[in-house]
Amino acid sequence: MAWFKRDTRRRATAATIAGAAAGVALALLGMGTFATHAAAAGSLGSAAAQSGRYFGTAVPTAKLGDPAYSTILDREFGMITPENEMKWDTTEPSRGSFNFGPADQIVSHAAAHGQKMRGHTLVWYQQLPGWVSGLSASDLQSAMDNHITQEMTHFKGKIYAWDVVNEAFADDGSGQHRSSPFQDKLGNGFIEHAFRTARSVDANAKLCYNDYNIENWTDAKTQGVYNMVKDFKSRGVPIDCVGFQSHFGAGGPPSSFQTTLSNFAALGVDVQITELDIAQAPASAYANTVNACLHVARCTGITVWGIRDSDSWRSGDNPLLFDSSGNPKPAYTSVLNALNAATGTTTGGTTDGGTTSGTTNGGTTSGTTSGTTDGGTTSGTTDGGSSTGGAGGGACTATYSTTNSWSGGYQGEVKITAGSAAISGWTVRWTLSGGQSITQVWNGTLTTSGSTTTVANASYNGSLQPAASTTFGFLANGSPSTPSLTCTGS
Ligand code: G3I
Repeated sequence: MAWFKRDTRRRATAATIAGAAAGVALALLGMGTFATHAAAAGSLGSAAAQSGRYFGTAVPTAKLGDPAYSTILDREFGMITPENEMKWDTTEPSRGSFNFGPADQIVSHAAAHGQKMRGHTLVWYQQLPGWVSGLSASDLQSAMDNHITQEMTHFKGKIYAWDVVNEAFADDGSGQHRSSPFQDKLGNGFIEHAFRTARSVDANAKLCYNDYNIENWTDAKTQGVYNMVKDFKSRGVPIDCVGFQSHFGAGGPPSSFQTTLSNFAALGVDVQITELDIAQAPASAYANTVNACLHVARCTGITVWGIRDSDSWRSGDNPLLFDSSGNPKPAYTSVLNALNAATGTTTGGTTDGGTTSGTTNGGTTSGTTSGTTDGGTTSGTTDGGSSTGGAGGGACTATYSTTNSWSGGYQGEVKITAGSAAISGWTVRWTLSGGQSITQVWNGTLTTSGSTTTVANASYNGSLQPAASTTFGFLANGSPSTPSLTCTGS
C-alpha cells in the first residue's frame, strides 16, 4: 500500500498548496497592500499550531490498521478523541471489571505519533452498560465515583482534557438537566460531584463539560450550561473547559457562535470545538466555524468527528473534510486557509485572562456513599439530622453528613429528597451550635439570621421529581455537630 500512501499525500499537498496560495492572494487583495506572510503550513495540525491551537479528530480503534486512514490521521491531526473506546459500555461492561484495551491502542498510537488525547467520556447517559440503571442511588454514586477514579487513574498523565460529564442538559427548552440514571437518582449535584471527584484523581488534566446544541447564545440549553459554569467558577468547583460538539446542519454554525464561545471564555474556562461535522460540508460553513474559534483567544482547539465521510456516524450527510476515498474536499482547503490566515493574529475579545481553577478543591468526595478508592480526604462522616417538612407544598427530607473536618472548621453536605410528589423548590433550616458559622455554601442560597441558618435551592436545582435528590454543601468555622434540619418543599 506504499504507493497509495504516497499518492494520497501528493494529492493532499497539491490541494494544500493551491488552497493556501489562493488564501494568501485573497488576503492580500482584501488588504489592498503588499505584505510578507509566513509560509503556510501544509496540514491542519501544523496550521492550527501556529496560533497555539490543536486540530484533532475522533478515532475508532478498528480503523488504526487501515493504512489509508492512518496516513491521513498522522499527517493532519495533532489531537485524538477515541470515538467510543473510553465510554462506559466498553471500559466497565460489568461492575468492577475494567477493559481499557481498545482505548490503550489509541493512546499508544497517539504517543508514537506525537499526538495528544482528549478523554471521552466519564459520565454520560448513553452507552451505559445495563447494570448501571439497575443500581440504587447509593450504589450508583459509588459506581460513578469508582468509574471516574479507575478510568482517570489508568490514563493519568496521558490525557490533555477529559469530557468529565457529557450531554447532561435537556433539549426541551427548559434549560434544565435531562432525565438520566444519574440525574434521576443522584439529583442535580451529580455533575459537581463528578468534577470534584475527577479533580481529586488527576490534578493536571483539564476537566471539561461537553454538550451539543449549546452553540446558539440565546437557546435555553446554552443558557442552562452557561449558568452552571458560572456557578461552578464562582464557587471554585473545578471546571477548566467547555466543549461545543458542533454537529451542524448544512447552514453551519449559528451567527451567534463566536459570541457564545466568547461569553463562556469570559467565565474563565477554555472553550473547544469537540465533535465538528456539517451536513454536506459546505466550505463556507466550515470556515465560519473555524473562524469563530480563531477569534476567541481561549478557544484552544478544534476536533472534527471523523476523518473521511465513510468514517462518520452520520455518513449519509457527507459531513467531513475528506471524501470516502481520502481526498481532501473543498471544506478541507477552506479550513486550512482559515487556520493559516490566523497565524499570529489571534485577537480574542475575551476579558477573562483567568487561569483555570486551582486544584485545592480536589479530594473532597462527599457523603457516605461514595466509596471511592482515590485517596481523597473524605473523612469521618456523620449521618443524621433528617427531618421532613412541607407546609403548603410538597414534602421533602433533608439529611446531613460531615464530609470533612479539621481543627477549627468543617465541611458539611445536606441531601434533599422529594417526597412522593414533585417539588419545584426547597428550603432547609437549622440552628447553628455555639462557635459555628458558615463561610461558604454551594448548590444553594444562604440566608442567616442570628444562629438560624436557611439554605434555599439555587436557580437550577429546585425542581425534584418524586423521590429524587439533590445536595448542597457548605464550609463552616467551629466544630461539626449533627443539626436538626427542617426541609420545606414548594
Ligand atoms: O461495536 C458494535 C458492534 O459490535 C455491533 O455489531 C454493532 C451493531 O449495531 O454496533 C457496534 O457498536 C456501535 C458503536 O457506535 C461502534 O460502532 C453502536 O451500535 C453505535 O450506537 C455507536 O454509535 C456511536 C454513538 O456515539 C453512540 O451514541 C458513534 O459511533 C459515535 O460516533 C457517537 O458519538 C457521539 C459522541 O460520543 C457524543 N456526542 C454525539 C456523538 C454522535 O452521536
